[in-house]
Amino acid sequence: MKALLLYSTTDGQTRAIASYLASCLKETLPCDVVDLQDAGQLPLAEYGVVVIGASIRYGHFNPALDKFVKQHAEMLNRLPTAFYGVNLTARKPEKRTPQTNPYVRKFLLASPWQPTRSAVFAGALRYPRYRWLDKVMIRFIMKMTGGETDTSKEVEYTDWNDVAAFAQEIARIAGK
Ligand SMILES: Cc1cc2nc3c(=O)[nH]c(=O)nc-3n(C[C@H](O)[C@H](O)[C@H](O)COP(=O)(O)O)c2cc1C
Repeated sequence: MKALLLYSTTDGQTRAIASYLASCLKETLPCDVVDLQDAGQLPLAEYGVVVIGASIRYGHFNPALDKFVKQHAEMLNRLPTAFYGVNLTARKPEKRTPQTNPYVRKFLLASPWQPTRSAVFAGALRYPRYRWLDKVMIRFIMKMTGGETDTSKEVEYTDWNDVAAFAQEIARIAGK
């Protein structure tokens, strides 16, 4: 039995989280880690568990997430599945559950797919890597919400212990 770990990323943090989940699971459950953009033809039914992770950019998940979920909702609802969202709002602990994170909450309310487990992870803030306009916009949002405004900084807010704990939940729903 294998796990399929799909990720939707722009700057790489969600891919890093998917890879870390795979490394946590490797003793119990071999994993295929695949970009959601390349997942259209994968045989989902052959996996023991399917996990989808996606990041937020300007208030939205990548449209590829909704498209994939709509296309595969029936199969996803029959399998053990998990979903996690990655964003900077989740750097605040009170915004780090599926019920309290606005993006994940909204996604779960509207989704035809109801994952067996859901989670929220804080992402990364990497000013030096952003284009000028993105840097200005993110700095503005950080200023409004009491976050880091020094544009020379890279800050990783992801709690890797939380990610490891989620890997255990994934193993559990896969029956491992
Ligand atoms: C241009 C841009 C827009 C973003 N918009 C939001 C946002 O609206 N809300 C939020 O909580 N985080 C926002 N973020 C933070 C990202 O979700 C965070 O950096 C995450 O780690 C990105 O994951 P990825 O590298 O997998 O794409 C934004 C980041 C960037 C660079």
